[in-house]
Parts: sequence; C-alpha cells; structure tokens
Amino acid sequence: MPVTAVLGGQWGDEGKGKIIDYLSGEADVVARFQGGSNAGHTILVGNKEIILHQIPTGILREGIICILGNGMVIDPINLLREINDVESTGVNTDGRIFLSLNAHAVTPVHKFLDAYNEKKAGEKAIGTTRRGIGPAYTDKIRRTGIRIRDIENSSLLREKMQAQLDAVATFIEDVTDEEINSLKNEVKEFYRACEKVKKYIADTFNLIHEYIGEGKNIILEGAQGTLLDIDHGTYPYVTSSNTISGNICCGLGIPPGKIDKIIGVFKAYNTRVGAGPFPTEQRNRYGEHLQQRGYEFGATTRRKRRCGWFDAELARFAVKINGFDYIALTKFDVLDGLEEIKICTHYKNGRYPDVDLDVAEPVYETLPGWKGSVRDIRNFSDLPEEAIKFIRKIEDLLSTPIKIISTGKERNQIISME
Ligand code: IMP
Repeated sequence: MPVTAVLGGQWGDEGKGKIIDYLSGEADVVARFQGGSNAGHTILVGNKEIILHQIPTGILREGIICILGNGMVIDPINLLREINDVESTGVNTDGRIFLSLNAHAVTPVHKFLDAYNEKKAGEKAIGTTRRGIGPAYTDKIRRTGIRIRDIENSSLLREKMQAQLDAVATFIEDVTDEEINSLKNEVKEFYRACEKVKKYIADTFNLIHEYIGEGKNIILEGAQGTLLDIDHGTYPYVTSSNTISGNICCGLGIPPGKIDKIIGVFKAYNTRVGAGPFPTEQRNRYGEHLQQRGYEFGATTRRKRRCGWFDAELARFAVKINGFDYIALTKFDVLDGLEEIKICTHYKNGRYPDVDLDVAEPVYETLPGWKGSVRDIRNFSDLPEEAIKFIRKIEDLLSTPIKIISTGKERNQIISME
C-alpha cells in the first residue's frame, strides 16, 4: 500500500481517525494536506479518548513520521496543547512532527474574525468551528498570510502580525478596547508558541518525495469531508479548503501518479454539524436513535450533530470526484436495534450538484433491521443476513466495494475484507 489516501465521503466526522489508526499499523508516514484545527479525529486507545485536531493520527503509534503539509493552516498555540496531550499518554513525539514551511499560520486575529463574522451573520451564520480557518485561508489567497517559514524571521513575523492587528482596529467599527487588549495578550502567547514550534519546521516537500522514493508506506489523511469542499460541497455551508483527493497534490506537493490507492470513509448513515442543507435529515425518533447510539457530538465544538439516513446520491458523487478504490464503512453498530433502515437511493427531482439541495426529494428504499449487535463480530460472514443485505445494497448503489467495516469505538472492532 505504498501511498494510500483516506478521505471523508460525507460532511466530515465519518470516523476517518479510527480507519487511519487501523491502517497505520503498517505505515511509516502519515501526512495531512488541508484544513487545520477545525478537524477533530477521536481515537480510543485503551480507555483513554484522544482527540487530534492538527497532528496526523499516526502520532499515536511509535515511530510513525507525521507531516503537516503546505496546504494546511496551522495554529501554533493549539498545536503545542495537542503535543502536550499526546505526550501525556506516554507517547514520545521527538523528531516525529514536521510542519511545512509553506503552510500558513492561524493567528489570534483569525480566530477573533471567525467568531466575529459568525456573530455578525446572525441567522445566516455558517456554524464554523471558530478555529480561524476561513480568515486564515482568506489571508493566504489575498497573499497577506503569515507562512510557517515566517516564524523563523521574528521581525517579519511581528510586522505581519501587527498589520493584522491594525486591520482589526481600523476596519472593524464595533470592536471594543477590551477585545483589542485581549487580542494583544493572545498575540503575546502566539509569539511564545511560534518560538516553541520553530523546531518542527521542515522542508516537507523534499522529505515526502524522499519517503516516496524509498517506497515507504505513506497514508495521506483527509480532514472534513467531500461535501464540505469549498468548490464541490454545499457552498456556502462548507469549509474553506478543498477536501477532495484532487487537493492532495497541491497540499503536499506530490503528483497524482504517486497516489496508489484512495479509500473513502462513510458512516452507515449521514450526519452534519453546523448549518446547511441535509436532504435525508431525520428530525424524529430515527434521528434521535442515530444521535444517541452514535454519540453524535462534534469532536471540536461538542455541538450535537444532525443525523439522517445514508444518502447514496451524494455518496455516488463523492465516489466519482475522489476516485475511491474502496470504502470503509463506519459506525455500523449504530444501526443495531432499528426495526427498519432506510437508504436514499436517489432524488426524485434531480442529481447532485445540479439539484437544489434545499428542495431535493429523497427516494428511499427500506431494508429490515437486524436482531442483536454487530459490535463483537469480526468476520463478514458472521454478520446477520439483514446486515449483509445492507452492505451489499450500498456497494450496489455506489458501484464500489466495501472492504472495511467498523463496528464500534474500540481499535479492534473492525471487520476487514481486504
Ligand atoms: P470551518 O471549517 O470551521 O470554517 O467550518 C465550516 C463548516 O465546516 C461548519 O459547518 C463546520 O461545522 C464544518 N466543519 C469543519 N471542520 C469539520 C470537521 O472536522 N468535521 C465536521 N464538520 C466540520
């Protein structure tokens, strides 16, 4: 599996962290190519839950190299907290974390602006994670951003940071003195954090090309999901980066031909956090079942996730745009106990992305539920007949095989058909 990408096929929170953790048993390197601390990959190790926001999931396995690619927006303050959290579990991170010198920094001003814009937008708010992602990418595109390599030049860093602070004071009319003072304090913390993360800065372009040349096993870790992609997702209710496989090349500096396999991660149902259209959302006892049994709360913001049935119309789009070779289906056990399970096969009134999702009319196929739980099953053939039917139906609808099924939170609750 030399170079394998693992990407979300829905609106994020598909359980990519667990699948990457499972696959990284054989990996040498795990690299991220977009997003920042808006991501939240929850992994259960023993009885300790770890949430990784920026550091690739591979960090939890000794010896794996973790690369934060140039396409990311990196928050140095949060990164240090994360490194501390990881080390508190006894994992040694020395010499294993590399930040691309061309990635961009998320500053306290970006986080302030994210929260400010959301508050101003009122009912039209995106429901962002308030981690400064949109403003940091805005600065990147405006060519005024602070790159990670700028951290090494303290006068340039201070000049660019001051320009951001001045812009807030000049252009935002209703900013209070208190807010400006608190921002100034956070900026001091930002400078201290920058000093400490200096040692992780690296030429990740040449590093990853060396690893590829050496035939190392590399996992490319996606964050968020296909439907949150800035170009192809449910705009404007999306994140500010490209989350699809096409962006791996830009976000790490590798050509398409070097990616050997692309795995799509889907939940056995759909969820989304924040605002935006969701055709198969179930605001009823089914949605409640999924929310409660799936413990559907945002890993970064702790918001309750909206829940609904698996949407094969949107999933087919995700398969096509990413070129998924196969699928890892997660949270299958959450469907335990339902007397019937629905799958949206298509919409009555159009195809994504042409259809207006606000008025899309899902057409459902109803399948019978199963008795008992799939949590302790490790072989595909031991699954209840109805569960196998569900898997086969999704494979049929997406014309793509499902080769991994996650049946619970624990590391070993996995059925592999690879
Ligand atoms: P932002 O990325 O913080 O700007 O948020 C934009 C939208 O993407 C909001 O709806 C967020 O809830 C959503 N979002 C961002 N990151 C994630 C994630 O890792 N999982 C799920 N949703 C996310």
